[in-house]
Amino acid sequence: MSTSTHDTGSHDTGSHDPGTVAFTAMEQGTIEDYVLVFAHEQEQLDTQADRVLGWLREMEGPSPYKISRLDHVLQSATKAEAAGADTETIVCALLHDIGDVIGTANHSQVGAALIRPYVSDKNYWVVKHHGLFQGYYYFGLYGRDPNLRDRFKDHPYYDACVQFCADWDQDCFDPDYPTKPLEHFEPMVREIFARDPADVFE
Ligand SMILES: [Fe+2]
Repeated sequence: MSTSTHDTGSHDTGSHDPGTVAFTAMEQGTIEDYVLVFAHEQEQLDTQADRVLGWLREMEGPSPYKISRLDHVLQSATKAEAAGADTETIVCALLHDIGDVIGTANHSQVGAALIRPYVSDKNYWVVKHHGLFQGYYYFGLYGRDPNLRDRFKDHPYYDACVQFCADWDQDCFDPDYPTKPLEHFEPMVREIFARDPADVFE
């Protein structure tokens, strides 16, 4: 813990905990400060998969479906694997609803943002838009256009998102399907999050 006070927001030129930065505002930071910050960020990156797996486990428990939210995404990943999808695509199937844990109102976009630095543009796009595309199956029941997704009809990933929803999402609520456990997919999750994340500022 720092022993200094920073009443004015100025850079601390006196003693401070070498494990923390000297500044109280980022504009005052030195390269030594940012070495500390980025070392911490690297630790966070190195443990990203652990947190992702934890969020998946939070999807266990009661749901309005016949299976838990976790079992739904496990079923999605199981079907993707059975269809011969590559590891990245299987992991995207597993994580397609993970946004529900922290951003229910826009869960597709939240989940897509999580995986974006680690996956292809195609897989990112499919996860980002799967909620809208899934509406094809139920929007009509409450007076909404089920074909809202057709605004993307000419997009190069339109067919992939239609396929994802048809084969690996809308039909993945079956308690009798031989769904593989999270432990089966854990090495795949770790493999994807062990990748060097893409530069998200470009
Ligand atoms: Fe889903």
